[in-house]
Amino acid sequence: MKKDEITTIYSQTDKVILEAAMEEVMLRINLIRKQEVALGLRDPVEHVKGRLKSEKSMIEKLKKKGYPITSESAFSNVRDGVGIRIVCMFVDDVYRLAETIRNQGDFLIVKQKDYIENPKSNGYRSLHLIVKVPVHMVDEIRKVFVEIQIRTIAMDTWASLEHQLKYKQNVKNQELIVDELKRCASELASTDLSMQMIQKMIEDS
Ligand code: GTP
Ligand code: MG
Repeated sequence: MKKDEITTIYSQTDKVILEAAMEEVMLRINLIRKQEVALGLRDPVEHVKGRLKSEKSMIEKLKKKGYPITSESAFSNVRDGVGIRIVCMFVDDVYRLAETIRNQGDFLIVKQKDYIENPKSNGYRSLHLIVKVPVHMVDEIRKVFVEIQIRTIAMDTWASLEHQLKYKQNVKNQELIVDELKRCASELASTDLSMQMIQKMIEDS
């Protein structure tokens, strides 16, 4: 490591804020789940995970994007310092949940990317929301970016597999794998829709 290399940007308070933003969203999602179940509806969520981008990855991202390497810059320029991944059983649940999150009065929806409607060329599917979440500190309310990814179990399994490929070096048959992944993505998408149809038929009868 070079002597002048920056290895830390966050204060203790910054870490508390990031943690709180993650907990706030988790809490809200759990509340939505409980309410749906209390109303006699299906729990829309299969599982939820939250992660904070490590300080090291944050510094790397700031460098890569040419932003100042400071805490202020991290909070204002990088929108996935806090990440939440919600995995649902069915595509309908993904959209129903996204709608409920959009309707949380104090969450500001900064951006939505619908990679289900418009998949990436590699086959990636997911619904992404960039949200600003209020964190109530002793003397101020901080608004923190949170990236919420909502997807089905099938989309999630696919994304993990594709992620493995991206980070593995010298993979044999790379081209074949890329093609196969793309084929799987579209098969999974049609299976997702079929399963949802079956689920509806069962529910309605
Ligand atoms: P940055 O990730 O900050 O560069 O923003 P972006 O504008 O590229 O956002 P995008 O919505 O494309 O991606 C955000 C996150 O979604 C990524 O960090 C991944 O977690 C996930 N993601 C996006 N594209 C892919 C993909 O092709 N494969 C997999 N496995 N995950 C993806
Ligand atoms: Mg990206």
